[in-house]
Amino acid sequence: MPEFKRLSIEDIQSVSRLEKETFGKEAWTEKDYLEVLGLSYAYYLVAYDGDTLLGSCGLRNMCGDGEITNVMIAPEARRKGIAYSMLTELMERTREIGVKNYTLEVRSKNDPAIALYKKLGFKEEGKRPHFYTEPEDDAIIMWIRQ
Ligand SMILES: CC(C)(COP(=O)(O)OP(=O)(O)OC[C@H]1O[C@@H](n2cnc3c(N)ncnc32)[C@H](O)[C@@H]1OP(=O)(O)O)[C@@H](O)C(=O)NCCC(=O)NCCS
Repeated sequence: MPEFKRLSIEDIQSVSRLEKETFGKEAWTEKDYLEVLGLSYAYYLVAYDGDTLLGSCGLRNMCGDGEITNVMIAPEARRKGIAYSMLTELMERTREIGVKNYTLEVRSKNDPAIALYKKLGFKEEGKRPHFYTEPEDDAIIMWIRQ
């Protein structure tokens, strides 16, 4: 069972490394993560098995709308239900700080992530054509509303 905890400064090196492996050119850097640590309206969660980072995800609370970002699980830890339980944990924790609705953007060709979000209860509400580059893709906007 993974252990979940709020992102802190000692996680940033390994989280940034996993970002780079996962998202390549789109990856957040250590500097980006250091910036969100200082934001009162941001909540980032990391999942560990002992000292091994399994994944992480984050949220920015915009007046009760929680925008979920940076969802990633290390390749060797995938398909074990970790992303599902990590996002469930993130939503439970942030409901307690006033988040009512949840939203995210996902590449239209990212079938694993779309299946994950639908399993969590997200519904497609819109599309931003050509939102992503390298490779070009549309963004699907998904919501869970109270
Ligand atoms: C998307 C990602 C976070 C899923 O993490 P995961 O821990 O493997 O997902 P889980 O094991 O919790 O899967 C939960 C559900 O998601 C769906 N799912 C996950 N991976 C899938 C895959 N490869 N193919 C199809 N469905 C998949 C399934 O519905 C699954 O439920 P099931 O196991 O009962 O079939 C992971 O593949 C990843 O890190 N991908 C690269 C980064 C990324 O794309 N992030 C999202 C950006 S928006």
